Amino acid sequence: MTDAPRTFDLGALAYGGDYNPDQWSEDVWAEDVALMREAGVNIVSLPVFSWPQLEIASGVYDWGWLDRVIDLLWDAGIHVDLATATATPPAWLLRAHPEMMPMDAEGRRMEFGSRQTYCPSSPVWHEHVARMTRAMAERYGRHPAVALWHVSNEYGDHTSRCYCPESARHFRRWLAERYGSIDGLNEAWGVNVWGQRYGDWDQIETPRRAPGPINPTQLLDFERFSSDALLGLFRLEVEILRELTPDIPLTTNFMSMFHDLDYWRFAELEDLVTDDAYPDPADPLAPVGAALNYGLMRSLKQRPWLLLEQSASAVSWRDVNVPKAPGKMRTDSLQAIAHGSEGAMFFQWRQARYGQEKFHSSMLGHRGRSSRTFAETKALGAELAALEPVRGSRVRARVAMVFDWDSRWGSAAAESMPSQRLNWAGQARAWHRAMHALGQPVDAVRATGPFDDYDVVLVPNLYIADAVQAQALIAFAAAGGRVVIGPFSGVVDATEKVHLGGAPGPLRDLLGVEVDEQWPLADGETGVLDLDGAALTFAHWGEWIEVDAAACVLARYASGDLNGRPAVTSRPAGAGSAWYVSAMLDDAGLVAVWRLVLAEAGLPARDRTDVNLDAVTRSSADTDYTFVLNHGREPLTIAVPEGARDLLGHDVGRTTNATLTLPRFGAAVLATPRAETVPFITLADGRTD
Ligand code: GAL
Repeated sequence: MTDAPRTFDLGALAYGGDYNPDQWSEDVWAEDVALMREAGVNIVSLPVFSWPQLEIASGVYDWGWLDRVIDLLWDAGIHVDLATATATPPAWLLRAHPEMMPMDAEGRRMEFGSRQTYCPSSPVWHEHVARMTRAMAERYGRHPAVALWHVSNEYGDHTSRCYCPESARHFRRWLAERYGSIDGLNEAWGVNVWGQRYGDWDQIETPRRAPGPINPTQLLDFERFSSDALLGLFRLEVEILRELTPDIPLTTNFMSMFHDLDYWRFAELEDLVTDDAYPDPADPLAPVGAALNYGLMRSLKQRPWLLLEQSASAVSWRDVNVPKAPGKMRTDSLQAIAHGSEGAMFFQWRQARYGQEKFHSSMLGHRGRSSRTFAETKALGAELAALEPVRGSRVRARVAMVFDWDSRWGSAAAESMPSQRLNWAGQARAWHRAMHALGQPVDAVRATGPFDDYDVVLVPNLYIADAVQAQALIAFAAAGGRVVIGPFSGVVDATEKVHLGGAPGPLRDLLGVEVDEQWPLADGETGVLDLDGAALTFAHWGEWIEVDAAACVLARYASGDLNGRPAVTSRPAGAGSAWYVSAMLDDAGLVAVWRLVLAEAGLPARDRTDVNLDAVTRSSADTDYTFVLNHGREPLTIAVPEGARDLLGHDVGRTTNATLTLPRFGAAVLATPRAETVPFITLADGRTD
């Protein structure tokens, strides 16, 4: 299973979406295929939720309609991202085996009537999933249309944690494997607190509703277990597909920075990372968050990935579903491609007429070929052809951020923390936002590296830290890297036992910092740090830290009970340095500190920042393709790198000091000969932020 990934290659950027022909009569299919061709669609995903239409009763199959659809698509040259159809069980299966319906933390069984109504640990479900996967692979595994396997769909969407008796049995087996003996578990969970000693495995339950706060290590282990339970389900299908169709690449679609699954481990089983991304059009900062999601996607396998789902305009699952203004679907799609996606795909091709998603926009809206989304779909399809040269090229980020699901779960799962306002995801988003504003794209990396490709490694939070991770970060700094560690890091070990001697535990020597006490601020309160005369604002979190003689204090607390104490430090470490940021700074404060980090690392930073400016370079062997996107509604004028040519057709001149004004949702893809460092895009002179 660790063999080299199979390549997904359509000979073009992928363009298309989910296709649900079983919601339509056959006469509509011909129109679908004609309009797909008109729009430049070259791949569709199906039949994601169609198991009940394919196996109408136990052992009674109806393949005919799917055979005809796939042939029809292929006759038109349209490939298929073939789902194994195991994303949702049919009613007949659930009624025969009601014990496979998932249970919530209150002990209530979930009913049929939506999708993904299954317990990830159910042996019955496993048996039927394996059977269906095998049937799909045997029937379609040789069809030339099949370019990619789409295993299940969005693991963990709706059902990522199950608390039923079967899950409890599976949880116990998982714990027995992890800890070896019940004494090992008692030691790991620190059961002498609140009298939680177990005498036998059978006494252990999933962390259902309890009278008070639940043992934090039990909660953390349940997070780990639940991710592993779905990973096991994924592996079951992967093994069957590898056996029957060893040459077809496979994927399962991720949900961006999804909390519940450790995507590093899922990606190991995939050939191609795919993502479903739904940045909220109502949130002006959504493209910044999307940039971090896409940084994760391109890093999970350190290969190009694919945006498998996005919306053409509004979704239908928020309380209020704001549409995408004209042009926004294009910039959103280009943003994903800028960050390494090998195409742009959607949920879904034709807008549903009925059911839960009838108000979800689609490439082809309810008004058919007259719909605005279809006009934009056609225009984007045509434009993607001009971007052909970028296929296979890679983003060369110099900054990486540590993504660690253990710390993410640990910092968020327990109720008994110094403050609920600090958690991994919030920290990661804030730290990335400031780096994005300064113009540096950010990759994702595990806490153990590899860090070789980077000059700066950001660790927004590493609540759970061990010696192996510390060693990797120490080696990175020793070799000349800049490592920046955030608050509440190195606090506990993998069983959530506090590192005595003070946080950041195994990182103390690297940073020359010892945390004496965490110092959360009350809600609504803010504090100030003094950075060389500049006042930086923080909220929610500070720390009382002690520093050693080699650590340089860059900023001190300048308010409240911590007044005068060190707040931000940097310490030489080998050929590099190690920085510690002990407070939750606001964006401007983080920008100020990042400027110092980038300067020391020899990396450029924009003088004037604008969150709407997004510039990312994909590099091939001989060309740098710099995508410059304006996510805002006001024009932005940028300085054009010398000798650039725009793949999207703007005349950018060939002179030095050329500028380009991008209108609202404007975009350019500037090609320049590959240079040692990629072009760095700034706002042109003469314009204020
Ligand atoms: C995804 C899912 C799709 C569709 C889409 C709507 O989570 O995979 O099937 O429901 O959301 O936004």
